[in-house]
Amino acid sequence: MIKKCLFPVAGYGTRFLPATKSQPKEMLPVVNKPLVQYGVEEAIEAGLTEVGFVTGRGKRAIADHFDISYELENQISGTGKEKYLSSIRKVMEEGTFTFTRQKEMLGLGHAILTGRTIVGNEAFGVILADDLCVDQEEGVMKQMVNLYNQFRCSIVAIEEVPEDEVHKYGVIEGENIKEGLYRVTNMVEKPSKEDAPSNLAIIGRYILTPDIFEIIENTPPGRNGEVQITDALLTQAKKGCVMAYKFRGKRFDCGSVKGFVEASNYVFENLYEDD
Ligand code: UTP
Repeated sequence: MIKKCLFPVAGYGTRFLPATKSQPKEMLPVVNKPLVQYGVEEAIEAGLTEVGFVTGRGKRAIADHFDISYELENQISGTGKEKYLSSIRKVMEEGTFTFTRQKEMLGLGHAILTGRTIVGNEAFGVILADDLCVDQEEGVMKQMVNLYNQFRCSIVAIEEVPEDEVHKYGVIEGENIKEGLYRVTNMVEKPSKEDAPSNLAIIGRYILTPDIFEIIENTPPGRNGEVQITDALLTQAKKGCVMAYKFRGKRFDCGSVKGFVEASNYVFENLYEDD
């Protein structure tokens, strides 16, 4: 059973400057909840209650968010305002939170490798909180855990993207096993439109088997001089098996200003409950 989920949150969030000058982008609110809380709720819904953050400098607000705030809680205790804390209290009751630091930003693959001390030798989930996923019935991570229980190999979530956006993603090529499920045969990180093997882009949800750590250790820096998880996953796919899963639901790229605004509008109109 998978119990652990890593959240690599060491990035600078430069696309949101100056908002991210002194606060983590993961703490920017989508309506009334910080971005990272949506991801953590998705993990917990999937049964991944042991949450591990790979953080960097300037990210302490994330640790504080998942901890008790005595002064505030004391102030509003017994008042009508306490209800505003109910969602974070639920998360704190159900989850445990561990933090480790990525000292240098050497890429997502390196961030995941830094989380090895938290994960140990078991399969685990990875959520990039930048990608906010919503689904009315079942969260994306829960859908992936169900698949993992069937296939017992690494799984990446994919989405069809327009051809002129493939250069922003890791893109897969695969053998279609059944509706929405592929066995990966090739993967390219941020390909040009011409070099892209398909328009099936990897989004920020992964389930990884623990052999990935050794593979990452032996993966040289790739695109942009960063250790790419895509390169490590390709090695894993060639050695054994990696699945790509076209998830049910909607994804917003909250790492970009446009996606963030779209997510805010969607959440406000469809999910937000005032009182
Ligand atoms: P991005 O490169 O998209 O995010 O990394 P960023 O650097 O935070 O944002 P911009 O581009 O400057 O606006 C994708 C995800 O991987 C994590 C980031 O925190 C983000 O969630 N990441 C990436 C790490 O934790 N460590 C790394 O070395 C690289």
